[in-house]
Amino acid sequence: MRTKIAAGNWKMNGLSHSLDQLSELAKSQTSAECAVVICPPSPLLFSAVEMTHSSSIDIGAQDCHTAQSGAHTGDISAPMVKDTGAKYVIVGHSERRENYGETDKDVCAKAIAARDAGLIAILCIGESLSDRETGKTLDIIGAQLAASVPEGATADTLVIAYEPIWAIGTGKVPTLAQIVEVHDFIRAELNTCFGAEIGNGISLLYGGSVKASNAAEIFTAENVDGALVGGASLKAVDFLPIVDALSAS
Ligand code: 13P
Repeated sequence: MRTKIAAGNWKMNGLSHSLDQLSELAKSQTSAECAVVICPPSPLLFSAVEMTHSSSIDIGAQDCHTAQSGAHTGDISAPMVKDTGAKYVIVGHSERRENYGETDKDVCAKAIAARDAGLIAILCIGESLSDRETGKTLDIIGAQLAASVPEGATADTLVIAYEPIWAIGTGKVPTLAQIVEVHDFIRAELNTCFGAEIGNGISLLYGGSVKASNAAEIFTAENVDGALVGGASLKAVDFLPIVDALSAS
């Protein structure tokens, strides 16, 4: 049985008062039959962990550096994330790949840093619109997996999020058949790489314009184990129906 995960990525949104949304979530999701993870901006991590301490919500960061410490002004390391009490860290989000030129090699090093610090990496992969339109989606996904997933990954250290870049924040969602095709491909690649026992244990999340209105359909796919949600995770009222849809799937 794989862990079902409803994860919210707040991106660069949220001030201290936004933590009210977390207490709303904490109040409402006690019966959720899935893991619920919120990844707020790093200044809110400590408070978010404190606020959700007695609930089943887990907290994650949105990025970490490859090094444990050092002269890297503005960065945060995986041990620092762990020290806040967070359990997860997103690595390789397409916005970081695009804005900061992060490569698959960097992403792999971040996933290793996360594992070494005792965190679970939510490793993001996904194709651009031109990759999709030129029929290169599975080649791109295969190459990203091969270069960014660390050797020896297991369900205890890794979650993979498939986020087509053209679906992020656009309201455009792939068809269910397209989601199924990519998730089945990722599962097969993991099984080939790590063996079926480990490959079948790693949770695969879909991300890109997930909302209450489309979540239930997306969660019907066998190899979709949850979602990584941006915009619709900012308010509890929008995120809770997604958590409920996943619990019911
Ligand atoms: P949206 O849900 O806003 O499309 O963002 C998806 C995403 O990038 C989550 O990491």
